[in-house]
Amino acid sequence: MTERSEGTVRRLVTRRGLIGGAAAATAATAGAAALVGCEPRRAPPAAPAFDPGSWASIKAQFPLDPDTANFAAFVFACRLPAVRAAIDDVAGKLDRDTTSLLREEERYERAVDDAARAYLGGEPGAIAYTDSTTAGLGLLYSGLELAPGDEILTTEHDFYATHESLRLLAARTGVTVRTTRLYQDPAKATEDEILTSLGAALSPKVAVVALTWVHSGTGVRLPVAAMADLVRSKTNALVCLDAVHGFGARAEKPADLKVDFFASGGHKWLFGPRGTGVLWGSPAGWARYTPVIPTFDRNTIGSWITGQQFPATPGALATPGGYHTFEHRWALAPAFDFHRRIGADRVAERTERLATKLKDGIAELPNVALSTPRAPALSAGIVCCSVRGLRPEEAVAALRSHRVIASVTPYATELLRFGTSIATDEADVDRALAALRALT
Ligand SMILES: Cc1ncc(COP(=O)(O)O)c(C=O)c1O
Repeated sequence: MTERSEGTVRRLVTRRGLIGGAAAATAATAGAAALVGCEPRRAPPAAPAFDPGSWASIKAQFPLDPDTANFAAFVFACRLPAVRAAIDDVAGKLDRDTTSLLREEERYERAVDDAARAYLGGEPGAIAYTDSTTAGLGLLYSGLELAPGDEILTTEHDFYATHESLRLLAARTGVTVRTTRLYQDPAKATEDEILTSLGAALSPKVAVVALTWVHSGTGVRLPVAAMADLVRSKTNALVCLDAVHGFGARAEKPADLKVDFFASGGHKWLFGPRGTGVLWGSPAGWARYTPVIPTFDRNTIGSWITGQQFPATPGALATPGGYHTFEHRWALAPAFDFHRRIGADRVAERTERLATKLKDGIAELPNVALSTPRAPALSAGIVCCSVRGLRPEEAVAALRSHRVIASVTPYATELLRFGTSIATDEADVDRALAALRALT
């Protein structure tokens, strides 16, 4: 293990401790910064009235410390007022009389599904609800139907959640997982290079292609639709996407991306309730999927009780059952509503504009090297870079003293990472650039 990867492992181990308990106390350390972007230092002031036409009003909805420029808000969402109110409302009702409220489960779940499908598209039953991107990917790669000799193709650029799901799948089933590299230098990546690399790695044996929409280690956004076309021109493979850093930051829907599966947490760029996620599937995708965890779908439990067969949708069948944090899942509806009222296109355009401003500014700094492509066509809201003479965690700590919050990429090659979400504005970008300039 290299010194760098040991550092990464140490931070990830620390991270677990932080999530479990003393996070706030040690938030100034860089490892913590990767995870605790949203903890307010004091009770959040009441948010002003929400005007979806005003970026200032939108930003003011975030209960983040107003004295900081928070470029890590996307790492793990803070609670928007409407999300917090919905969580509190359902939690209070559950506290008073759990079983009565659970009788209203169907109504709440329909509201979430209607809002999710208005945002993502798809027929009723296209979406399974999970606790996170990681849970969605784990369910997905555990339940895909594979034949002997099938191969899974993934890439070097995906996050641990994809690689570990596939490693576990291979250990259980013996399926072959191949990993390819799509670009050599992220800053210089081109669509041509990515498509040529993918094309060279495809063979008729490939039954599943596992990709990530926006790479959290480099900020590269893949040309997913063109990649899916290429996959289909050479194979019958399903195209499966870890979509978490595009979901809530970009406007494309799964059908625009031409993917079969689209997995995301609700607690990153969507700024939905923590501990939520979606697994969207196309009809062709769900046709090759067997659920992994028993659902609590009423029809399915009814079939078990009566011995008759009642129909259930693929999304309902793939949604893990058991009682869980209903107050969080049902608070997804106001999170989708927040984005709908602003407009997904406007959110994407704003995210891109701020990222472009940050990248253009970084490109002028002699002490900072940009790793994310300058071209908006190959990036989204993640901007990765490195500061000369400073390790990324040192840069994160130094930026904190300028009241700029950034994070470190959780990969073997570590980079300093910014996320230009709608919780940031132009003045925050200027502050980040001034702070970066001061780090020598
Ligand atoms: C690409 C990618 N996928 C998945 C995750 C995990 O997301 P979740 O918390 O929703 O499982 C992360 C980071 O936390 C990530 O960067």
